Amino acid sequence: MCGIVGYVGSNQSVEVLLGGLRRLEYRGYDSAGIAVIDPDGELHTRKRAGKLQVLVDDLEALTLANGSTGIGHTRWATHGGPNDQNAHPHLGDNGKLALIHNGIIENFAELKAELVAEHPDTVFTSETDTEVAALLVGLEYQKTGDLSKALLNVVARLHGAFTLLVLHKDQPGVVVGARRNSPLVIGLGDGENFLGSDVAAFVEHTHRAMEIGQDQVVTIRSDSVTVTDFFGEPVDAREFEIEWDASAAEKGGWSSFMAKEISEEPAAIANTLIGRIVDGAVKLPELDVLGPDILRDINRVVVVGCGTAAYSAMLGKYAIEKWAKVPVDVELSHEFRYRDPVIDRNTLVVSISQSGETMDTLMAVKYASEHGARTLSICNTQGSTIPRESDAVLYTHAGPEVAVASTKAFVAQVAAIYLFGLHLASIRGTLEPGEIADLLGELSALPAQLDVVLEEQDAIKQLAGWMTDTRSVIFLGRHAGYPIALEGALKLKEVAYIHSEGFAAGELKHGPIALIEPGQPVFVIVPSPRAKDSLHKKVVSNIQEIRARGARILAIAEQGDAAVLPFADVVIPIPLASTLFEPILAVAPLHIFAMELAAAKGLDVDQPRNLAKSVTVE
Ligand code: G6P
Repeated sequence: MCGIVGYVGSNQSVEVLLGGLRRLEYRGYDSAGIAVIDPDGELHTRKRAGKLQVLVDDLEALTLANGSTGIGHTRWATHGGPNDQNAHPHLGDNGKLALIHNGIIENFAELKAELVAEHPDTVFTSETDTEVAALLVGLEYQKTGDLSKALLNVVARLHGAFTLLVLHKDQPGVVVGARRNSPLVIGLGDGENFLGSDVAAFVEHTHRAMEIGQDQVVTIRSDSVTVTDFFGEPVDAREFEIEWDASAAEKGGWSSFMAKEISEEPAAIANTLIGRIVDGAVKLPELDVLGPDILRDINRVVVVGCGTAAYSAMLGKYAIEKWAKVPVDVELSHEFRYRDPVIDRNTLVVSISQSGETMDTLMAVKYASEHGARTLSICNTQGSTIPRESDAVLYTHAGPEVAVASTKAFVAQVAAIYLFGLHLASIRGTLEPGEIADLLGELSALPAQLDVVLEEQDAIKQLAGWMTDTRSVIFLGRHAGYPIALEGALKLKEVAYIHSEGFAAGELKHGPIALIEPGQPVFVIVPSPRAKDSLHKKVVSNIQEIRARGARILAIAEQGDAAVLPFADVVIPIPLASTLFEPILAVAPLHIFAMELAAAKGLDVDQPRNLAKSVTVE
């Protein structure tokens, strides 16, 4: 949460900062601000409550002096409401220093009390924890005259999670940053350098980037970058190439990023599989660091994630247990570490995260490592923190996901954990090579099948248009359809603000059926009639039970499934696929439904209220 950008170079920094903030706005969008140092060494700041456009309009109406050093921030409020005063940057050293922050400084109240005790005349202009940090760095700068040292002295006193960027009018051409448990990456340009919460902040200027580790401080000038630890000792930072192009994070001709990203679901799967299936076998050299013995010897897998990522984790459980015969638990990351989970050297903790920065998941991974477990990250974002904290990483290649609600990243995560499940099955010998090759064939067929699903969505769009007054929607699924029901319900809450619940269809009779009254819309993800254990029959019975009580049945069912037709008000057909693969085809119509319904209600589908894409606070 909160997007951060820093720049030193020869360009006009206001434009660079606003461009970076535009790409980071998905991280938070309740206020935005910038600070620049002009060629005469004067510091100028401007900040406004509201989306970035409010600041942009304000800057157009009243131009800010420009310069080639600056910092910018787009906020998701934690301490203090979203207003002009609480927006970042905050000032220190009598207005000569500007600071921006992502995270929460947990001991800010104590620090504030100490500050007031020492300097009773201190004037606070906001309710934020950030302003306390700005004032403290200002005081340290007065003592040391060195911005890096000033920041080092202050971070040593901070508890919690933070990325801080700071500049000072007496140090034109310098931006200093520090990070602990919050993201920050460096962009390496030619005669210019950048800092950003993620590479999107500067990808239109450079494809060369550098990671900054935990508890490190970075100083950028136009021609140099230095990284130290919190004791001021130089450290090596790893350089990497950004794989996607700036245009990948543009809306193109689409009405929203969400619409564009749903259209990219087939490519997200295809790109995640590229190079990883060779001659009917899985090739995941990135897991070699774990070693075949470790994967053979693990006796338990725990998959952690939040939101949509937790639902791909559930599908991973079904697949890994079936194929590799290892017990798998799925846990919400924030529940995992606070309940003293039993884990050891033979437990593999797999984390799933699009951003690689979700604080709850990061903390779960750290907990797992500290307690001896092996850790594998499934992640979509290069240079992010969770992969760096993990023993191994399996990147999804969904490309940048900008809309707050996750769509294409979800299907890519499922593809990745399925690959992992088959890899594990191969190492443990629980499936024959021929069976693995067949399953990989099904996995590889998904992008083309999903293309077909996406081409035939007029019915779901029409349905969404009719349902703008709907106040509650229920989603039912069974087996691998259950996580999809949860995902359908989450998406509708997130973007259309409609109360929705996902249930396992078998659970209906144990309570949720009491919710059914005449006219209640219920989406049902119907398993294939070819599924084993008469799952299909059982779900068709569930449909009859709720239809008898007046529910409107919106069924997502396999093409040609005649058994559903008599009982469904609407049938959304999907191509034939086996039980574990069908959900990947069933989810796209639900993504489209939520998006279309939100759009029909006139809502901003990319930036839903109260949310942020990357949740870097606990
Ligand atoms: C937020 C987003 C969700 C996302 C979740 C996990 O809550 O609104 O869309 O699924 O974070 O994010 P991650 O980056 O860890 O996948």
